[in-house]
Amino acid sequence: MLRQDQNDLLTRTGPGTPGGQLFRSYWLPALLAEELPENECPPVRVKLLSERLVAFRDSEGRYGLIDEFCAHRGVSLWFGRNEEGGLRCPYHGWKYDVTGQCLEVPSEPVESGFCKKIRLKSYPLVKMGPVLWTYMGPAEKQPPLPEYEFAQVPDAQCFTSKRTQECNWLQAMEGGIDSSHVSWLHRGVIDSDPLFKGAKGNGYNMGDFRPMFEVVEHPGGLYVGARRNAENGQYYWRITPWVMPCFTMIPPRGNHPVHGHFWIPIDDENCWAWSFDYRPERALTADEVAAMRAGKGIHVEYVPGGYRPAANKDNDYLIDRAAQKAGITYSGVEGIAMQDASLQESMGPIVDRTKENLVSTDNGIIMARHRMLRAIKALMEKGTVPPGVDPAHHHVRSAAIVLPADQAFKDAAKEALSVRAGRAHASV
Ligand code: FES
Ligand SMILES: [Fe+2]
Repeated sequence: MLRQDQNDLLTRTGPGTPGGQLFRSYWLPALLAEELPENECPPVRVKLLSERLVAFRDSEGRYGLIDEFCAHRGVSLWFGRNEEGGLRCPYHGWKYDVTGQCLEVPSEPVESGFCKKIRLKSYPLVKMGPVLWTYMGPAEKQPPLPEYEFAQVPDAQCFTSKRTQECNWLQAMEGGIDSSHVSWLHRGVIDSDPLFKGAKGNGYNMGDFRPMFEVVEHPGGLYVGARRNAENGQYYWRITPWVMPCFTMIPPRGNHPVHGHFWIPIDDENCWAWSFDYRPERALTADEVAAMRAGKGIHVEYVPGGYRPAANKDNDYLIDRAAQKAGITYSGVEGIAMQDASLQESMGPIVDRTKENLVSTDNGIIMARHRMLRAIKALMEKGTVPPGVDPAHHHVRSAAIVLPADQAFKDAAKEALSVRAGRAHASV
């Protein structure tokens, strides 16, 4: 449970808010690289942290993320003409480069120098892996680029998608560190989905519905360990890293690729669920990629032309009560991503955390909230750089591992929880 003021601190990320300042300390995924596939391609509207922006790729291949609205009289530059090194407003022809600098005001004499005085807000936009990343904080505090493993492996080893989710980022992210819901909500799917089925660990998940949670801190966030009984008095551990503010990695299953998410605020009542799958050691197979493209695993099928899931609030997520009754799916909603999203959206746009009744399986969530609150306070009061900004904090992995009962996961799984280039995740 949180007080209302604490809930507000964590869930409000618009300009000028303390939570927004925290998010503006990090490089964040802004677009899929495929959204700007070539020079002079159409610009894309981007809303992040409640700011309306437009992204484009100019004639020389430079990426830009600038204020959506023309400095003249406020037209959306999404209508702009991407030509000759800039984005030109179609209303009266004012033109901007990728830094937001106005290059031309055709109605004014060139010698007046008027256009030099006009500059739109802009943020850097950098391609790394399949993602275009942005940093929306003060230029003098811009950290080095992120070093998440999924974005550093060769292209053939990673698949990334994104979908909109119609609720605040925090309740979506909290699903990502809540390993206890898997045995309930995703029952049925983990043994049928092509990207989850067949792992030995699935049996442990289904054989013990009372996982014990142990949460330990790492410099960038937390490792959330969920312990279930395995054979011979041993424990099956599923360990989920959370890197501040909103990166989570799902523990692997058998020999399947490893999945994870970023939960990025669009505004206070909507977020992007970024979903990646990768293998550190080899290329994804054609079958795996085909399953991901078809919306299996943690990916979804879309309403054509965008990133809204085909199963959404407006069609009751295509809930199938017969499948629910028969236990084919536990909630009646199909697919892991929409099983999560449907329930998280059902909590309302921003869940009221003053009314919760938390239990021991919520320990990861409780600790993550407190870590965030501490970081916000330290940033506001002392300007302390928050955990997760340093790229060294990104070198984490999830693990699924069977350990003797007397061994603490933080020691016994230490190596498995760090990046070991080219080597597969520890997985059961
Ligand atoms: S509103 Fe953009 S040029 Fe006039
Ligand atoms: Fe889930």
